[in-house]
Amino acid sequence: MARLKTGVLISGKGTNLQALLDAAADESFPAEIVNVIANKAGAPGLERARKAGVKAQFIDHTLFQEREDFEKKLDETLRENGVQFVALAGFMRILTPWFVDKWKDRLINIHPSLLPAFKGVHTHERALESGVRVHGATVHYVRPEMDEGPIIGQAAVPVLAGDTKETLADRVLEAEHKLYPACLKLVAENKARVTAGLVRMDKDCAPDPHTVLSNPCLR
Ligand code: GAR
Repeated sequence: MARLKTGVLISGKGTNLQALLDAAADESFPAEIVNVIANKAGAPGLERARKAGVKAQFIDHTLFQEREDFEKKLDETLRENGVQFVALAGFMRILTPWFVDKWKDRLINIHPSLLPAFKGVHTHERALESGVRVHGATVHYVRPEMDEGPIIGQAAVPVLAGDTKETLADRVLEAEHKLYPACLKLVAENKARVTAGLVRMDKDCAPDPHTVLSNPCLR
């Protein structure tokens, strides 16, 4: 079966990108990474992509006066590279409704919290301050409102006594690296679709009551 041609947008380290590249290195994985674009010069993720033999490009958003002009360039580049589906992986730039609508239901994001809790930035710090006992990450379809959109999968981690924002961030990031490829696999196999504003999963992917990662389709 044809693999879903996926583009990944990044701004920084690209450890989630690496997790996607590693998963897609297996030809039986239903998605292939065909293009990586960074909006920051020297984003280490660009080198990760090149090492994996994936076309990696830097598009400097500061060169564009309007957000939409930058996004038009993004859109054009993704299409030129045959991208069918886009994954945001630490892409720290808000996308306008123009781009989001253009890629509606073909655009996903990973966010470092259990949404709808802790939208925005500094999620680990805010989780610690709020005293939650469980924290985690969410993969969701992107909508114009920040960190909103139908949820595909979530991974929970405990908040432990003595955690700092760094130790908690490390634990969440480790979970992200399992969650993101699992969610991309699910959508690429068309087992998770948006219906009436929510993601419906095939019956054999019914969410496990304890943790979504133990769902057979998210392993
Ligand atoms: C990840 O923790 C990701 O969830 C977060 O940025 C980090 C990127 O790390 N994304 C956001 O905060 C998006 N709002 P990475 O570059 O090593 O994948």
